Amino acid sequence: MSKKEMFNERYKTGKTPWELERPDSNLIEFVKKKSILPCKTLEIGCGTGSNAIWLAQKDFDVTGIDFSSLAIEKAKLKSKKEGVEIGFIVNNFFKQKENESDFELIFDRGCFHSFDEKKDRITFARNVSLHLKEGGQWFSIIGNADAGPRDIGPPMRSALDIVSAVEPYFEIVFLVSAMFDSNREKTARCWKCLMKKRKKGAK
Ligand SMILES: C[S@@+](CC[C@H](N)C(=O)[O-])C[C@H]1O[C@@H](n2cnc3c(N)ncnc32)[C@H](O)[C@@H]1O
Repeated sequence: MSKKEMFNERYKTGKTPWELERPDSNLIEFVKKKSILPCKTLEIGCGTGSNAIWLAQKDFDVTGIDFSSLAIEKAKLKSKKEGVEIGFIVNNFFKQKENESDFELIFDRGCFHSFDEKKDRITFARNVSLHLKEGGQWFSIIGNADAGPRDIGPPMRSALDIVSAVEPYFEIVFLVSAMFDSNREKTARCWKCLMKKRKKGAK
């Protein structure tokens, strides 16, 4: 089963422990504390759209992309119910054409961290940078390997995994250890990482 089929199956059967059905508190805190103003924003791996909807309600001009058609179907229904306009797209971000676009902010919660291979994380980071205008920012919530091995839970990445993938394309503004927002009793450690696209030719 491909990764795309696996995610679609999980949305079909409801095995989606990452889903909150509300915006993630780490995203809310980031937008509020860093005084991020409404801007052209892309959410990669947006799932059923709770974060994209919250951003749109705060006047961000949001596009959400996910390769699970079922997740996007649900996201479209939810956004219609909330009365917000969001461009939801079914696509594999990893294979997205490399023509540059001009997003000012990119957000992902649990998409970047799903790539096990270093070369794939590097390609993902490069693709993110191509979708950002110069000076644009990428805020990512990533499973954190520092809590040590465990049997279940989100994929875990070390600080080195993150830095070595994004460094060629991004300056790291902050990389902070935190806890995933969760509806479950036990939650997992995450990284909150804010990155700024490097100027052309800077590296
Ligand atoms: C752990 S889930 C998180 C979903 C959502 N961000 C949330 O917090 O509820 C990861 C999401 O990324 C999507 N995804 C993974 N790889 C992707 C890719 N290459 N292109 C587009 N979406 C992808 C999955 O379908 C899934 O919806």
